[in-house]
Amino acid sequence: MTQPDDPTICARGGWFDDFTTRPSNPPIYQTTAFDLHGIEQLDAVVSGAEQGYIYTRDGNPNHAAFAADVAALERAEAGAVCASGMGAVSAILLSHLKTGDHVVAGRILYGRTSQQLAELQRCFGIEVTFADANSAESLAEAKRDNTKLCLVESVSNPLIEVIDLPAIVDAMGDVPVVVDNTFATPCLFRPIEHGASLVFHSASKYLNGHGDVMLGVVVGNVAAMTGVRRVTSLFGLNANPMECWLGSRGLRTLPLRMRQVSESAQKIAEFLEAHPAVASVIYPGLASHESHDLATKFLPNGCGGMLSFELAAGADGVRPLFRELAESIPFSPTLADCRTTLSWPAGTSHKFIPTEDRRAWGISDGLIRLSVGIDSTEDVISELDAALNLVP
Ligand SMILES: Cc1ncc(COP(=O)(O)O)c(C=O)c1O
Repeated sequence: MTQPDDPTICARGGWFDDFTTRPSNPPIYQTTAFDLHGIEQLDAVVSGAEQGYIYTRDGNPNHAAFAADVAALERAEAGAVCASGMGAVSAILLSHLKTGDHVVAGRILYGRTSQQLAELQRCFGIEVTFADANSAESLAEAKRDNTKLCLVESVSNPLIEVIDLPAIVDAMGDVPVVVDNTFATPCLFRPIEHGASLVFHSASKYLNGHGDVMLGVVVGNVAAMTGVRRVTSLFGLNANPMECWLGSRGLRTLPLRMRQVSESAQKIAEFLEAHPAVASVIYPGLASHESHDLATKFLPNGCGGMLSFELAAGADGVRPLFRELAESIPFSPTLADCRTTLSWPAGTSHKFIPTEDRRAWGISDGLIRLSVGIDSTEDVISELDAALNLVP
């Protein structure tokens, strides 16, 4: 056989269609599509008679690996990946709702989740009632004949409230309950074991845990996941293989990280509560938190790494504090990085909520959210102490 021309060598590359080695970790299937041996194989893969992949928007081994691990951790039948946590919310809502349907949602959710629900209401005629997720009765009172879903967070952002999920599931009857389990992770709480139908995560947060990924994941039963995958494919919400690969790598240390951040956050919350420059601390591991009893019951392995606090100086103290901490505990509008970071819900995650509503719900202009990382607890406490002592 004659040597092909350079353009042919470049365009086709040297590639074998199977692995002859056994990599100890999954390869990254960074490919748009999967070559098929012929039309017969296409038919077999499409019909499900043969396991395989065709086009990465529809599915890819890295998607499957990450989704299967999260499904196993959450004790769900199956999972599906999305390009972000917001992609996961979209996939659930688009696969379960049509115009004229009604959703009951917790009043305090991640701000963009509330905004997406309001957008669906405004543009697509899907009705939404926001109710107090701390009261199963309030959620049940919001229920109507056309209610198709109830959406809540297991541990809320940014007030770190713990829900009574069995009571909510009971009160909602045959309405499926969807839980955003981003803050708790399956290491601390598994909503499906308490009756939830669907669970989703911003895997950009703890599941990956290294602050370098945008990824979402949904888990539930096989029928629901078939619907979610249809939507992720049709609306282009699917994740890319590299993000899933990073997500899978991050998952390897999830239990260790969740144990460490829970222990550290408890100590930091106790330190802050005793500091004269701090007016109040919101952490369910503290007896002062309104969810403390629920946390004791539902989060026996720890309350996670998220806490919020207000300064005695109020909103005026936020800027100076962030300036003092810029080099050690940075203001970073995300959470669940390895490093401890600070955020300001009124100006970031909850900026899109009308100011009066936000304040009335307890998300004040001075509320500071701390995402405790796996850096040394003692270092974080001494850095916070030094900065708090300088806040006017
Ligand atoms: C609780 C919670 N849910 C969902 C999301 C959305 O996830 P993503 O940023 O991956 O789209 C976030 C983002 O911060 C979040 O905190």
